[in-house]
Amino acid sequence: MKVLELNGVTKKFGGITACKDISLSINQGQIMGLIGPNGAGKTTAFNLITGVYDVTEGTIHYEGKPITGKRPDQIVYGGISRTFQNIRLFRNLSVLDNVCIAVDRHETYPLAPALFRLPSVIRKEKAIREHAMEYLAVVGLEEKASLRADSLPYGLQRKLEIARALALKPKLLLLDEPAAGMNPEESLELSKLIRQLHEKFSLTTLLIEHHMDVIMTLCDRIFVMNFGEKLAEGTAEEIQTNPEVLKAYLGEGYKRAGN
Ligand SMILES: Nc1ncnc2c1ncn2[C@@H]1O[C@H](COP(=O)(O)OP(=O)(O)OP(=O)(O)O)[C@@H](O)[C@H]1O
Ligand SMILES: [Mg+2]
Repeated sequence: MKVLELNGVTKKFGGITACKDISLSINQGQIMGLIGPNGAGKTTAFNLITGVYDVTEGTIHYEGKPITGKRPDQIVYGGISRTFQNIRLFRNLSVLDNVCIAVDRHETYPLAPALFRLPSVIRKEKAIREHAMEYLAVVGLEEKASLRADSLPYGLQRKLEIARALALKPKLLLLDEPAAGMNPEESLELSKLIRQLHEKFSLTTLLIEHHMDVIMTLCDRIFVMNFGEKLAEGTAEEIQTNPEVLKAYLGEGYKRAGN
């Protein structure tokens, strides 16, 4: 089954065409890579899928239904969640509270019991915290729960963003450069984590990365963008030997992983 389908999607910002006639589809359970040079339009594609921007032309379907024109919160509730290239945490809240907020979005709070902190509310808050701790545990952050989010090194902040995205119970997870700033050892560890989470939560995953080791080890298919347009699509093997991709992005001297 196709989880996500973009058909002829174009996004213009004034004179700039950030995405041009992009058609892409992801099957359930796939990990798809989205790669390309800086400014190719990758993050813009995420912003279109998640309703941050309206498309200029084209349609986006999620689980067979159109989501073009929906608000970001409607899209999140539909089952698409994401992390951000520029980390967006509540910096002065604790690590735990950053995830509680996401867990909480699935709960409803009648106002009066909340104001008077009735036992039912206290029980609910406890359940939310326990639930949030489980998400912290899956990314290995449970021992950091009480620290302020901005006291974490960037690599851990990125994992916290992943925990928060998971707490929104997505079926489709969009990761925008989760390994940014990581060394090869850290990005290898992150690749293993992404694979584990993908399986544990039965996700479909779309992954933007400049770390080719992460892309090539994880992705079933890779979609390459350049200047807003599709340059190529294929398996890791096909992409790593595609002359146009080597020229525009990977570099002529690029050596295939494992060679
Ligand atoms: N809100 C905006 N207003 C105007 N131009 C924008 C906006 N967002 C993106 N762009 C432009 O669209 C193009 C694509 O940007 P985008 O951020 O999608 O690239 P990217 O592939 O994610 O690059 P990177 O790898 O550097 O993150 C760029 O030329 C960028 O300047
Ligand atoms: Mg980007």
